[in-house]
Amino acid sequence: MAEQQIPETAGAGTPAAAPRGKGRAPIVVEDVTMAYGSFVVQKNLNFTVERGDVFIIMGGSGCGKSTVMRALISMQPPAEGRVWFEGQSLWEIDETARQGLMQETGVVFQSGGLWSSMTLAENICLPLGEYTDLSAKDAREVAKLKLALVGLAGFEDFYPSEISGGMQRRAGVARALALDPEMLFFDEPSAGLDPISSRRLDDLILELRDSLGTTIIVVTHELASIFAIGSNSVVLDPETKTQIATGDPKWLRDHSDNPGVRAFLNRGEGG
Ligand SMILES: Nc1ncnc2c1ncn2[C@@H]1O[C@H](COP(=O)(O)OP(=O)(O)OP(=O)(O)O)[C@@H](O)[C@H]1O
Ligand SMILES: [Mg+2]
Repeated sequence: MAEQQIPETAGAGTPAAAPRGKGRAPIVVEDVTMAYGSFVVQKNLNFTVERGDVFIIMGGSGCGKSTVMRALISMQPPAEGRVWFEGQSLWEIDETARQGLMQETGVVFQSGGLWSSMTLAENICLPLGEYTDLSAKDAREVAKLKLALVGLAGFEDFYPSEISGGMQRRAGVARALALDPEMLFFDEPSAGLDPISSRRLDDLILELRDSLGTTIIVVTHELASIFAIGSNSVVLDPETKTQIATGDPKWLRDHSDNPGVRAFLNRGEGG
């Protein structure tokens, strides 16, 4: 894969990326500001997610990672700027078209987002029933396949409360994969998981990228995950309320000339 090394950009992002990438990149964020009323969370964001990326949105707690992700998954419009999604301006097309684009997108929320009153198979059949013409029997087959893909073969008839937190997270991934999305979003996938479960989830994310070609966007501040899976990233800063770097996380860790970026990516290594 011709993954270009995106050099770090001090301050205002990657001006060259937005116009160039609009037509073909899965996601181009162009001069985006996110706010709640007059409270600005992040401003002047510019970054591009290329096909096949595992793209990390990182930054300290409360800096606005989840809020930025919400603009990319049709949950919250930006106060300013544009989000280009597969070449279309996500917040300028009508609601129906936007929901159509979202069918190509899977989202795994922090909690796993499973319905507790339904078995794992029923959870996965839900979006299939809503968006496809599959018979109940075929939908169940798809559910079995997706569960097998995340290492949960044989757990079709278990309820979420009957499996561990790590397994619930993986079942959430299986459900997000139900409609064969081109893009998969994760908000803090390893939150609350032990290091081994967390590493398994990282392996699963890489497997999905490599075997299905899924483009993956991950919100996280877990360093181990960031370095294990990230091919590109944006670093959000809570102080200046904007991005302070974009690029390969390992490259940024070793070469960034921004002290904030270096500090964030070298935590726990004795300063
Ligand atoms: N619905 C909301 N209404 C008003 N302010 C909000 C809302 N959701 C989040 N915020 C504020 O926006 C800021 C960013 O929150 P956000 O959840 O995006 O941060 P985060 O980086 O994802 O944090 P964490 O690492 O804790 O998950 C915070 O100051 C938060 O209080
Ligand atoms: Mg968050």
